[in-house]
Amino acid sequence: MTQSKIFSPLDLPNGTTIRNRIAKAAMEENLADIETSTPSKQLINLYDIWARGGSGLIITGHVMVDRSAMSGPADVALDANSDLTTFREWAAVSKSHGAQVWMQINHPGRQMKTDLGQQAYAPSAIPLDIGGASRLFCQPKEMSDSMIESVIERFVMTARLAEQAGFSGVEVHAAHGYLLSQFLSPLVNKRTDRWGVSPENRARLLYSVVRGIRAVVNPSFTVAVKLNSADFQRGGFSPSDAVDVVRSLNTMGVDCIELSGGSYESPAMGGHTAQSSESTVAREAYFLEFAKEIVNVATVPIMLTGGISRREVMEQVLDAGVSIVGLATALALVPDLPVRLQRGEPIPHAKTTAPNWSSKTLASAATLGVVKWNMRKHSKGEKVSYQIWPIFAFIIEFFLGWKRARVFKQTRRVKTE
Ligand SMILES: Cc1cc2nc3c(=O)[nH]c(=O)nc-3n(C[C@H](O)[C@H](O)[C@H](O)COP(=O)(O)O)c2cc1C
Repeated sequence: MTQSKIFSPLDLPNGTTIRNRIAKAAMEENLADIETSTPSKQLINLYDIWARGGSGLIITGHVMVDRSAMSGPADVALDANSDLTTFREWAAVSKSHGAQVWMQINHPGRQMKTDLGQQAYAPSAIPLDIGGASRLFCQPKEMSDSMIESVIERFVMTARLAEQAGFSGVEVHAAHGYLLSQFLSPLVNKRTDRWGVSPENRARLLYSVVRGIRAVVNPSFTVAVKLNSADFQRGGFSPSDAVDVVRSLNTMGVDCIELSGGSYESPAMGGHTAQSSESTVAREAYFLEFAKEIVNVATVPIMLTGGISRREVMEQVLDAGVSIVGLATALALVPDLPVRLQRGEPIPHAKTTAPNWSSKTLASAATLGVVKWNMRKHSKGEKVSYQIWPIFAFIIEFFLGWKRARVFKQTRRVKTE
């Protein structure tokens, strides 16, 4: 294949077109205004840089559908009480150079740290098990039927508001161990009602969210889903479960399915799994073998994310029948990578070095810290330095997270008093 496939347009089922096959995958930026959970000037600056960088598609970091269930203190939330002004600016800036922009919408479920002072809810009252770090996370309560219904309404409301604010679409986050992925997992979902027991029942929440959104947004508004190809945990959501979910999503008016894998317990999305060795981490296009199976059953375009940064690998992925390559880390380090690629310019090394720590969860957190450090630098117009030590990034992130959580709790307390 020649380079042209990467830069050929893609028509989505909803009739819209993405101008090339490179997507900036979702990355939690931690750059929202903590008091209002709305996009800050710094966040919008960052998207201005990505907009100029040439990606055909820009997917935002996850946006919470419920401000009382935040994944992090500096995450964006969009609900009926949000002022849309800065969301409009965010969408407009991101689209200003021709990219489509999708807002990723999410609910953390049990993947919620205790330091935010919120109550976590999950399909069943099963807490995260990540060794010594487990106590940093909440003990979840089992959701009632009416709570589940209200979560569906919240996803639908957030999607409507994203459309009103000018986003080209939404991506429903059903991967990485967050709430919808918890419902899909037999390890976390032990319910005995219509939301559990069988694979169809476990997928009911995801399908209800997707159908609910499709019913209220315009036909040309993109509805995408991010799904795990597997959880990479014994007894968890399996590759054959993923194939079945994709078959069902084919019939629900979905425009794209992004494949990833893993959760906080088994962070395969960053190349770390409970079983991974150094050589696994060094691999590229982590989920390509799974994607090949999915491509055979999908009737909608498939996007693949995880471990992709080089042109040769992008070509290999597109040759396998995948329609869009998703890049997260690479575009946080080199935001104009697509423009450079198209011009045939040299591309700086666009990968982080993963520490070889025994705790894969902590190693993953350190790698995320390096990426977040760089996103913060870009957002302030400062020089990036992606060779910083992961341990240093880890400590900085830990400290910043602690500081932000204090401000978060302070402002929430003041508001509710
Ligand atoms: C700092 C950081 C934040 C992330 N936040 C999100 C997120 O909000 N939503 C999501 O679906 N994935 C998130 N991810 C995962 C990426 O979208 C992607 O699946 C993963 O990093 C693998 O791709 P890569 O090898 O290109 O980085 C995040 C990754 C990083 C590095």
